[in-house]
Amino acid sequence: SKAITVPALLALKKAGEKITMLTCYDASFATLMDRCGVEVLLVGDSLGMVCQGHSSTLPVSIADMAYHTASVARGNRTALLMTDMPFGSYATPEIAFENAVKLMQAGAQMVKIEGGAWLADTVRFLTERAIPVCAHLGLTPQSVHQLGGYKVQGKSDSAAAQMKSDALALQEAGAAIVILEAIPAALGKELTDMLAMPTIGIGAGPDCSGQVLVMHDMLGVFPGHKAKFVKDFMEGQTSIDAAVRAFVTEVKNKAFPAAEHCF
Ligand code: KIV
Ligand code: NA
Repeated sequence: SKAITVPALLALKKAGEKITMLTCYDASFATLMDRCGVEVLLVGDSLGMVCQGHSSTLPVSIADMAYHTASVARGNRTALLMTDMPFGSYATPEIAFENAVKLMQAGAQMVKIEGGAWLADTVRFLTERAIPVCAHLGLTPQSVHQLGGYKVQGKSDSAAAQMKSDALALQEAGAAIVILEAIPAALGKELTDMLAMPTIGIGAGPDCSGQVLVMHDMLGVFPGHKAKFVKDFMEGQTSIDAAVRAFVTEVKNKAFPAAEHCF
């Protein structure tokens, strides 16, 4: 099959076809997920929790992200490879650029950063220098100590309005995609309808342009807390291939997320 590109994701949104995305941290799983039709592989800084065993994503370094990105890149053939910029690596546009270059040279095709309108200058600085950017709004795990835990975001009218203006500012600055994490399904729909860029939800309702899950969650191997938005796709399956294919099928045919996975 043909390689998935950033413009191809926009075309999927325009065509009304759901986008499939999973986190991935090594070469073997990259090959498996790519073979099963996952369109975007995210080297998430969730690796700090699911691979390294930390209780948050804060300890993850740029070197860690580059190492896992290079591993995933070796196993991947056609999926789009996105990598998270870790905590503390994008405090200014210049610092963000220097760090994003390391990830792109390791094999990332786009980078993701967590936060609202304060990042608009950084998004512009990166995109002007040929680094596609994915934004991340709602529950942004790098802000756990400011948020006071892993909680649903955008519940009040004022928080929802703030998220909409943040999303517009980031899109205007050049963001190509946005991840929406742990927000009311109704707000996920409003943002998806309002924005030209695709929205990829994780606990953001069924109306987002696509869905993402952490692989250790959707395979039922993460020993920690299971969030409401997680579905264990290994249930009823006899292979990891089948579980990943079930995720792709259920996102494409809109069976996932169901009401029980939404806020
Ligand atoms: O790090 C990660 O896995 C993520 C996804 C949950 C979107 O950012
Ligand atoms: Na992340």
